[in-house]
Amino acid sequence: MDKDKELAAEAAVALLSNGMTIGLGTGSTAKFALRAIARRKLDIRGVPTSRQTAELATALGIPLADINQVPHIDITLDGADEFTPSLDLIKGGGAALLHEKIVAVRSRLLVIMTDASKLVTQLGKFRVPVEVIPFAVRYVEEQLAGMGASCSVRPGVVTDEGNAVLDADFGLIADPAALGARLKGITGVVEHGIFPGMAAMVFMGDNGTIKRFPQVSGG
Ligand code: A5P
Repeated sequence: MDKDKELAAEAAVALLSNGMTIGLGTGSTAKFALRAIARRKLDIRGVPTSRQTAELATALGIPLADINQVPHIDITLDGADEFTPSLDLIKGGGAALLHEKIVAVRSRLLVIMTDASKLVTQLGKFRVPVEVIPFAVRYVEEQLAGMGASCSVRPGVVTDEGNAVLDADFGLIADPAALGARLKGITGVVEHGIFPGMAAMVFMGDNGTIKRFPQVSGG
């Protein structure tokens, strides 16, 4: 729901302060965050995770930095396609998973913004995006089939690095980190959309209220 995505984005943007280098995610929720950042008129610089995000940030007057020219990224604000209460994620519905993961691993804090439709008890209803160099598509499809996944090439999609995206259905994923490691081991796979335990927190808009994960019990 757009209103809840916007609420989550505003909660995340409240964490920012002057002087920070901010990773700028991709997708509809990240767009709300960009607009909220622009409204706050902070003295920050952004490292975009996609061409699409770079274009919107530039249009909104947010200064950008080259990821290879910054010593670190303070906070990255990004969306997700699924998340669990233990903060495992699936990302890549917008095909920006590779740059999103590189920005995430360079960040001191990865903050995820979603609406309630993204919360699951176990990952896997959303198919896992797998970025593959074009030359290896057939081979990777065969390897994924051998792992018991049905998959399809996302039609007409070419990533910012010129690669293809396969969407792979593994059913419910018992061990996201282990599946991610297996996918990374396939020759021709550049990256996959499983982000196991990489997020520090999730802000979830839920019918006009904000829920924060991990949830603090008591008090
Ligand atoms: C982009 O590749 C994705 O990882 C997005 O962050 C994800 O698809 C969330 O998108 P929305 O914010 O549009 O739901």
